[in-house]
Amino acid sequence: MTEKRQFRAIKGTRDILPPDSALWNWFEQTARGVFESYGFRDIRLPIFEETALFARSIGADTDVVAKEMYTFEDREQFRVAHPLTMVDVIQIDEAVAEAWQHGRIPRTLANETEVLRLHEASQNIDREGTPALLRFLDSVRNLALGDSLTLRPEATASVARAYIEHGMHMLPGNVKLYYSGPMFRRERPQKGRYRQFYQVGAEVLGQSDAPAIDAEILEMLLVFFKRVGLTQTTLYVNSIGCKECRLKYVELLREELRKVKDSLKEDSQRRIDTNPLRVLDSKLPEEQLIIEKLPRISDYLCAACREHFAKLKDELKLRSVAYEENWRLVRGLDYYTRTTFEVTAAGLGSQNAVCGGGRYDGLVELLGGPPTKGIGFAIGTDRAILSIQEGGKLPHLPGLAVFVAWLGAKAYPTAVTIARKLRECGLAVELPSEEMKFKKSLGLADKLGARYALIIGEDEVASGTYTLKRLADAEQKKLSENALLEYLESERRGTHA
Ligand code: HAM
Repeated sequence: MTEKRQFRAIKGTRDILPPDSALWNWFEQTARGVFESYGFRDIRLPIFEETALFARSIGADTDVVAKEMYTFEDREQFRVAHPLTMVDVIQIDEAVAEAWQHGRIPRTLANETEVLRLHEASQNIDREGTPALLRFLDSVRNLALGDSLTLRPEATASVARAYIEHGMHMLPGNVKLYYSGPMFRRERPQKGRYRQFYQVGAEVLGQSDAPAIDAEILEMLLVFFKRVGLTQTTLYVNSIGCKECRLKYVELLREELRKVKDSLKEDSQRRIDTNPLRVLDSKLPEEQLIIEKLPRISDYLCAACREHFAKLKDELKLRSVAYEENWRLVRGLDYYTRTTFEVTAAGLGSQNAVCGGGRYDGLVELLGGPPTKGIGFAIGTDRAILSIQEGGKLPHLPGLAVFVAWLGAKAYPTAVTIARKLRECGLAVELPSEEMKFKKSLGLADKLGARYALIIGEDEVASGTYTLKRLADAEQKKLSENALLEYLESERRGTHA
């Protein structure tokens, strides 16, 4: 007997069902439209990548990499049998050496150590006996034969990887890409925070770091938010400097934090050593007064970074982009340089950041590519949609247009034919697969939210006409096929306009 049990979506994941899914499609489609009007083009990226790509880009000490990634070992391309005889040991030693050489054993530092250790042990078994055999077996066990892969926690690292892999630095002008899709982080689920969540994001990569690029993507972001009715938003901007000036500031910050260490809580105390900038992110009420008195990065930017930030603010003014400066906006990912920003929206409680982004001028180089400037953002689709829903200003999205209410064997062929013609005109049409009394048909049409019922009975078939009933006000018209198609076509254009 198979066990009878109900399956449920994994904690932190969820199904997006109709009618919400229509809102999601509209949101993502609107993003595409706005981003494309600014010259961005779609990039479709893999959902999983090598773990090392994220560790290197986002930073090993960040929460995302240290605690939140969904990482798994892929199936091995190479298997090691359990040795039974000395001949087996020699064969395994040779096979491992060959597999290592040809890249069939993932080339990690840990594997390299084990491959060397395994070879050393196999050479010494004759002389040493059991201790060497145990070392050999230990190394065989320790080899991680499958690649370490991770479900993407974000997409900027993948965009940078793709930029390098496809030699996109050879393309003319700035490379402007956008993406949309699921990301995965093992965070504690709550309102607006999921383990599988969705982002739409955009990135600009190229040779220029002109502040106008930063300002243009912020303008684009706000144009998009306005288009989808997210108006109660606040844009916060900051500059966290370049490698040189930030390093100096971080040292100073660390010194100052050490002086107040005892008044800080455990997390912040730890961060003094690992990542002092993250202390500025603390939301703990008891730490706020202390943080307010810390030195601010804006006073320590080098001349070039100060000028970049000043020009960005001029550009934002030129474009009438409203913003607030927030010196504590340091972001949780390590790749940022200079400009950082976040957008918060109403109706979301503590998880109110609907968008985060910034400049990452060294990232492509860090991943082995040519010197490249970069800037981008990602909008959290789940949160943005929640905020739109809470705001109550939902768009009017066309649903089912026509329910074909047919009755009688003679009416059926006419119903099938006209349903197809209406669908070809781009209308959403429901054709019941079984005969129903008109009363039941009309009731179902109403429940399904159809705008019209198209009535086809014996009378209509005999007279070659159709009865179209508008369900909102029960107004009824008798129309020829041409007149019907024309009427509904113009109605469709009206709805879509
Ligand atoms: P992020 O700030 O980590 O940045 O994420 C961007 C947005 O994704 C957040 O503001 C939030 O709306 C949403 N988000 C993040 N985690 C969750 C979650 N667990 N549940 C629901 N929504 C979430 C990045 O990901 C960068 N890659 C942005 C970027 C692009 N920077 C430069 N280019």
